[in-house]
Amino acid sequence: MCGIVGAISQRPVRPILLEALRRLEYRGYDSSGLVTIQNGSFQWDKRPGKIRVLEDHLKGKNWNGHIGLGHTRWATHGPPTRDNAHPHFSCDEKIALVHNGIIENYESLKENLIRRGHQFRSETDTEIIAHLIEEHAKKNKPFVAVQKAIKELEGSFALGVMFRDHPDLLIGARLNSPLVVGIGRNENFIASDVPALLPFTKKVIYLNENEMVQLQRDRVTVSDLNGRVKRRPPTTITWDITSAEKEGYPHFMLKEIFEQPRAVKTTTGYYVNRKKSCTEFAALKPVLKKLNKINRVIITACGTAWHAGLVGKYALEELTRLPVDVAIASEFRYGNPVLNKNTLVLAISQSGETADTLAAVRQANEHGALTLAICNVVGSSITREAKATIYTYAGPEISVASTKAYTSQLTLILLLAIYLGRARKTITKQSETKMIREFLTLPKKIEAVLKTDQLIDKCAAQYRDAPNFMYIGRRYNFPNAYEGALKLKEISYTHAEGYGAGEMKHGPLALVDNTFPTVAIAVQSSVHEKMVSNIQEIKARSGIIIAITTEGDKAIDHLADCIITVPETSEMFSPILTVIPLQLLAYHMAVKKGCPIDQPRNLAKSVTVE
Ligand code: G6P
Repeated sequence: MCGIVGAISQRPVRPILLEALRRLEYRGYDSSGLVTIQNGSFQWDKRPGKIRVLEDHLKGKNWNGHIGLGHTRWATHGPPTRDNAHPHFSCDEKIALVHNGIIENYESLKENLIRRGHQFRSETDTEIIAHLIEEHAKKNKPFVAVQKAIKELEGSFALGVMFRDHPDLLIGARLNSPLVVGIGRNENFIASDVPALLPFTKKVIYLNENEMVQLQRDRVTVSDLNGRVKRRPPTTITWDITSAEKEGYPHFMLKEIFEQPRAVKTTTGYYVNRKKSCTEFAALKPVLKKLNKINRVIITACGTAWHAGLVGKYALEELTRLPVDVAIASEFRYGNPVLNKNTLVLAISQSGETADTLAAVRQANEHGALTLAICNVVGSSITREAKATIYTYAGPEISVASTKAYTSQLTLILLLAIYLGRARKTITKQSETKMIREFLTLPKKIEAVLKTDQLIDKCAAQYRDAPNFMYIGRRYNFPNAYEGALKLKEISYTHAEGYGAGEMKHGPLALVDNTFPTVAIAVQSSVHEKMVSNIQEIKARSGIIIAITTEGDKAIDHLADCIITVPETSEMFSPILTVIPLQLLAYHMAVKKGCPIDQPRNLAKSVTVE
């Protein structure tokens, strides 16, 4: 979704802003823009398309302004045109503004502003904010004008604002959309996310909801919406800039797929006591009393994180005997879920900023449920709302299509299930020990799966032109059928569907002929024989089978057109292994089709609007 950057410095900020914008590209965008102040006037440009289009237009322009704002836009109100791109300006061209999020009451505000004589140049909701601030700036100083304008706005948003006649002040605000402040030496910054700041500083302040910030070169003042100053000591980012770079890989997605042994190992390391072979969740201490009283779990999430939740349901029910429901956050929030203080609502989110998941957590809090977040981004909105958070340690995930965050989410939810099973005494110490020992072997097994990369590449070459794919699985590997299909759709633009294998004969089998590939996840499990039967049914209709099986298992050899094996592990942990060939298959298909991989069309990494 949209990305904001801003800088005030003793050096020219244009290269800073462009560098920072490039580091927000992963969020997904369709146009970009930039504004600086030089010699008392705004220098700006904005263009539909990638940042390099903007850069091409900036070539030869000698802008040396020491304050500026940049923006990547992901269209919501109005198509990705030059006029709709940010920055937006007031009528008097004294105010420049960039915005992430949605202004819900923009139509009524716009009507009022038009009545007062304002002229609009774009179809966006954003532009009204510039005009609104202009109205308030007639009687107020810049900060108060922004403050007053914000109070008239409804929706969720983050803003960066500059005043042409105040080149020593940059204003930021956060109301439900992320904004981070970067503290440098004689220069300060704002950005939608930390990777944008890393080339310049590791000292950051995560703004809280309803906070504003005034940046000067040598000072940062955080306040609430009424101007009451807040003391907010900076946090130091511990991860390195290289974590947000490709390190020789052609795409972030491939790099992140290959980082999975490390991501799973690191996440496991935080919650497993190796010596005692048991799980430990120190972060749950503050909510332990409530946790002991829960009699029901609802998992809520979006996209890939929802698939992790579906796997979690099987594990939590098996190990804790608690009833578990899994709800897509956008459905949960507008449903009327039955919640009380004995319900655990578990929200899973890589970014911690997904608008629907955030709203679901808030709703659960309002109903008195115990909310727990599984999240990858420290300090993100969902972690602030949930009563407790346990973190995945996947490191920054840049590619829009989630891979290492998914296997880290699976890791964490499986370990949580073991932990709760022990706490509720529904599993024995011996089973915990056995499971943990097996769990610790997973990173090595993931490494082994990654070695099938070339085979998968060949398989992708063979079926790259198939317009439709089916993915099937059962029990623990049923959610991976969804996840495999999602990966393929997202990045290769090939239509794919995930199905519970047992459902094939209730409809999808009608699609099968000798041109139609089905990816069947058929590793050793309690439902292995059932899977073999389902594969036979497809083969009997001449369908193409790409099978994921367990090393040494020959049962499917004669049925499959392409076989990819994974090492043996328990059925419960197997989704962590079986998803990897699915990720690689989608990746290689997309590369062969010439798709952009890390930033698929129309999609965003962090979905901060509904
Ligand atoms: C977007 C991303 C997906 C992600 C989903 C949920 O659609 O492209 O990769 O799974 O949002 O995001 P979250 O950050 O909440 O896990």
